[in-house]
Amino acid sequence: MDKLLIEGGRPLSGEVAISGAKNAALPLLCAALLTKEPLTLTNVPALNDIGTMLRLLEQMGVKVEKVGAGGTAAAGSAASTDTVVLDASGLDNPVAPYELVKTMRASVLVLGPLVARAGEAKVSLPGGCAIGARPVDQHIKGLTAMGAEVSVEHGYVHAKALGEKGRLKGARLFTDMVTVTGTENLMMAACLADGETVIENAAREPEVVDLANCLVAMGAQISGAGTDVIRIRGVERLHGATHRIMPDRIETGTYLCAAAAAGGQIRLTRTSSAYLDAVIDKLMDAGCDIGIERDAITLKAPARPTAVSIRTSPYPAFPTDMQAQFMALNTVADGTAVIRETIFENRFMHAVELIRLGADIKIDGNTAFVTGKPKLDGATVMATDLRASASLVIAGLVAQGETLIERIYHLDRGYENLEQKLAALGAKVSRVK
Ligand code: UD1
Repeated sequence: MDKLLIEGGRPLSGEVAISGAKNAALPLLCAALLTKEPLTLTNVPALNDIGTMLRLLEQMGVKVEKVGAGGTAAAGSAASTDTVVLDASGLDNPVAPYELVKTMRASVLVLGPLVARAGEAKVSLPGGCAIGARPVDQHIKGLTAMGAEVSVEHGYVHAKALGEKGRLKGARLFTDMVTVTGTENLMMAACLADGETVIENAAREPEVVDLANCLVAMGAQISGAGTDVIRIRGVERLHGATHRIMPDRIETGTYLCAAAAAGGQIRLTRTSSAYLDAVIDKLMDAGCDIGIERDAITLKAPARPTAVSIRTSPYPAFPTDMQAQFMALNTVADGTAVIRETIFENRFMHAVELIRLGADIKIDGNTAFVTGKPKLDGATVMATDLRASASLVIAGLVAQGETLIERIYHLDRGYENLEQKLAALGAKVSRVK
């Protein structure tokens, strides 16, 4: 298994381009299931999670053509690619098997589109993951309200639309908590349902809006995306479209956090500050100088960051996907930060690894108390999930000496060309096979 070797203690400086958003790309790939016509997506990041989703779609009968800078690449590979053309005219197997779903929870995003288009679906339950139980009861509750018969047998969700000609019916939906993929699944399903669907307590995440924009380009009738009430008037069919995926706000935030912690000055291009208010606010509180351009962000780090407390909440509040990176930043900040995780019940696994690097962190339930130290010391640590891994990279960049991060396959799921991008910022990082 690959490891990442970081020689820390060097400030970052330089410029990198941000990739398309993983969490926007995954539902957008699934949107292709809703139509017989080709859907073309551009700015698709080359990530393992994207490769997994493409394999999942291919085994359902979707034709996938990847067009990279150097021409067409093999489907399912994570080779550098930018444009993906998906043709679901031959959809013939509405099944998502355990082998693929277990590696990526977002596979559940095929459920809504499959029931809407094929009238039925069989999707493996994602099961637990490192950061918590993460059930899909809200996805099931919504589809049931839309007239699907849903049962869970042998670890699989079986859903069948009982309406006329296997069509879902519009309904008034309310989710018990704000769920991002739940909102996306139900919004996609509602596009082809008979009548109007209203999703209340909808997620307001920018990725939901990106998906809605693409669905509207495909002929869907959606209003209210980006607010907590989304209305969808079902249509009989959707058509093909071309859509550019939004920049990855979490990748952007991760590099900003890295520079804030390691010191130096960086410029991130092909991104936007529009979806990062909560993160940028905290970086400014930490003492960073932030410059906003139309599609770029610059950051100049202070000599030493000031501790910043955070509380994760659904968008537009501080994102749980940036919690681990801010914990890493606080390990070397001046003062004590209180970090409260309210979305996932077990999302502090990076803390014990950061402690191995010399950090002072105390955990009490969903709250972490981080007292900054002037320095960390390199050590061997283990990545446990995607964003936890990112926090270890940041800590490794700050720590004196060498840090070896094991199990970096988590990073390959969500950060495109991580080593190359860090090297462009002057970091000493190498992949050890
Ligand atoms: C998405 C993001 C993930 C991010 C998370 C929260 C994608 C592909 N992933 O994950 O990166 O960390 O939003 O911003 O976009 N819940 C239930 N029942 C359900 C659904 C959710 O109890 O049916 C709970 C979850 O366990 C969690 C909370 O609701 O505690 C929010 O989860 P949710 O927004 O659904 O996360 P994901 O959509 O899986």
